[in-house]
Amino acid sequence: MLRTALSTVLLAVLTPSTPMGDTLYPHLGQLGLNVTHYDLRLTVPTPGTPDLRSDTTLTLHAERDLPDVQLDYSGPAILNVTWNGQPVPHRRAADKLIIPLPLPAGQDVRLRVTAAGPAGGVPDPTLNITLGWQSVPATPTQPGANFTFSEPDGTRSFIPCNDHPADPATFTTTLTVPRGVTAVAGGTRLADHPNLDGTHSVTYTLTTPIPTYALGISVGTLDTVRRPDLRIGDQHVTLTDYFPTSIPDTVRAPYARTGDILTALSDWFGPYPFSTYGSVVVTPDLPALETATLSTMPVRSSRERVIVHEIAHQWFGNAVPLGDWSDTWLNEGFATYAELLWTQAQGQDTAPLLRGWRDRLRPGTRPLTATTPAQMFDATAYARGALALHALRTQIGDDAFRAFLHTYARTRAGQPTRTADMLHLTRTQLGPEAATLLENWITQPELP
Ligand code: ARG
Ligand code: ZN
Repeated sequence: MLRTALSTVLLAVLTPSTPMGDTLYPHLGQLGLNVTHYDLRLTVPTPGTPDLRSDTTLTLHAERDLPDVQLDYSGPAILNVTWNGQPVPHRRAADKLIIPLPLPAGQDVRLRVTAAGPAGGVPDPTLNITLGWQSVPATPTQPGANFTFSEPDGTRSFIPCNDHPADPATFTTTLTVPRGVTAVAGGTRLADHPNLDGTHSVTYTLTTPIPTYALGISVGTLDTVRRPDLRIGDQHVTLTDYFPTSIPDTVRAPYARTGDILTALSDWFGPYPFSTYGSVVVTPDLPALETATLSTMPVRSSRERVIVHEIAHQWFGNAVPLGDWSDTWLNEGFATYAELLWTQAQGQDTAPLLRGWRDRLRPGTRPLTATTPAQMFDATAYARGALALHALRTQIGDDAFRAFLHTYARTRAGQPTRTADMLHLTRTQLGPEAATLLENWITQPELP
């Protein structure tokens, strides 16, 4: 007994808890903590309001001695926490939920956290919006809705999590909503059953690990549009889109191209990393977001180019996760470049796109690695990132470029990836000249 207490104290003194060490978000995540799976059950009693009940079971694995468990959390009031089924104490401090129990290296624990109350409200790095759980109040013409919009760190607004892309995980999501309301989440739908209290519960499972911010959930009065199943080689992908019933056909029309886009991008990137895909259209004025297998598409983003962009992120960002938030160009540059690949596959002129990217950088650019949160989604991340890939492709040729993209997507899947990892692959697969070219695009203050 005494020895256990003593070693616990020693563990805490010798190895203090440290965040993941992200360059731009130093407080996010816990170093050495690996959440392998989130089993989350969310109840939305009144869609359109922030009211949420959550019951989250995290499967935790310690990769080093942890003196305690520190999850990112700024959500509703905690009701109860259990550790392998036993009630345990907890405290909240500065956007963390702390469980003051040591988790020695190599050990696993199932941590279950229940909470209830209003959810949402993590500040965005640049835009005048809040991240995480979104609530769209009912209007005379439109019933209330909720959805997630979490990049970079909004998932902590509704569930406790290791909220950093360097710790991707699988998810099982069960949503309980009033009868007549549609609830959808990333992954494959397992079951939808009625409950006695006038609600129904639907479960989705996502078996490919994704970053926490890429977890997409949407609740509302939605039309479900099932498209013909897609076959790409020996791959089988189901396609389903969701539109609020009030959304006109003109907004819905471009989504009919989804299957063709997935097929065209698979040619360049390799096998699609999931087994289902679709978009959910949302009404607030936000950017689009590549929520895994279920992109979140605002009305004004319901255009072919944006649809292509978010589909490309399923490979670059979702399957291949970022290792650090300063490397967002690895997501945004690749997804932007996909817009050109699609344009070309359509037999259309790509010159206007290339000119557009250069124009966007005329006011100024920077080296590709971001040094402030404000730079994460700026023109350089998107347009210079895309131009860097175009320069690489022009130098090495289409066949080598396609092979490079396939290898990158395959070998980095599930691996937190940084600019240095991409450069390393460039050097080993394409040689020093290609690496030097890319390095100039990455590091020079001005456009090479
Ligand atoms: N990854 C999104 C896209 O380009 C952009 C998200 C912007 N996020 C933000 N919090 N401002 O598809
Ligand atoms: Zn993007």
